[in-house]
Amino acid sequence: MAENLILEARGLDAGYGEIQVLWGVDLAVRRGEITALIGSNGAGKTTLMRTLSGLVAVRGGVYRSEGHDLAGRSAAEILSHGIVHVPEGRRLFGAMSVEENLLMGAYLRSASRAAIRRDLDQVYTTFPKLRERRNQQAATLSGGEQQMCAIGRGLMSAPLLLMIDELSLGLSPLLVEQLVDALRALNKDGTSILLVEQDVTIALDLCDRAFVMDMGRIVREGSGEELLADPIVRDAYLGVLQE
Ligand SMILES: Nc1ncnc2c1ncn2[C@@H]1O[C@H](COP(=O)(O)OP(=O)(O)OP(=O)(O)O)[C@@H](O)[C@H]1O
Ligand SMILES: [Mg+2]
Repeated sequence: MAENLILEARGLDAGYGEIQVLWGVDLAVRRGEITALIGSNGAGKTTLMRTLSGLVAVRGGVYRSEGHDLAGRSAAEILSHGIVHVPEGRRLFGAMSVEENLLMGAYLRSASRAAIRRDLDQVYTTFPKLRERRNQQAATLSGGEQQMCAIGRGLMSAPLLLMIDELSLGLSPLLVEQLVDALRALNKDGTSILLVEQDVTIALDLCDRAFVMDMGRIVREGSGEELLADPIVRDAYLGVLQE
């Protein structure tokens, strides 16, 4: 495995019961980069993230990170390895406060209280709204605030790789812009990110590298710029007809 890769999947197969969803997926995520995963509804993006986080079993192929074989590992083991999933729909602990939710992200860490306090402060610097609302019950946050809290909770586990499923879903353009800026800043500070994003323009603009999924397979791979210029991607995912 090349040194700059933090995650590598080769020929990954996975599914639910009788149904196979992922067919020989190859994915390589490089350290320090933002990697995007795009594709139409039902292509298998969420299933791939759930497989990478150990919630769906690997049925075939290779899944490695930093010299560790992660195929067949439990979700808890994969999380403690540093692969952190911010799921579609955010899934906060609704009855708990914002700060309690954030601290849950640090639950598996053996870091000192001081280190956790520093990271909490860092999350509040990234998302000042969360500091203002730290004692508010998570269930009563707006959609955008919930997304910030879910990302913040992911950051609290000091991730090797932060995987975010559907960054912009249901959020206003202004909020999406703020979140995109926050992700850029986090990435600049060294956080590696794997992003699933329905808005292909946002995804390709933000990422260093992108993978396109269709019917459970990776059908294209390239830099964000390359894929933005790719006539097939433009036609299928940007609604731009070929000239
Ligand atoms: N728990 C499940 N049981 C059975 N089939 C499932 C399950 N979850 C997803 N699927 C099927 O797997 C396929 C891929 O779904 P997945 O949610 O991974 O797609 P997606 O690319 O994330 O789509 P979207 O863009 O709509 O979120 C779909 O055909 C879906 O119906
Ligand atoms: Mg999905």
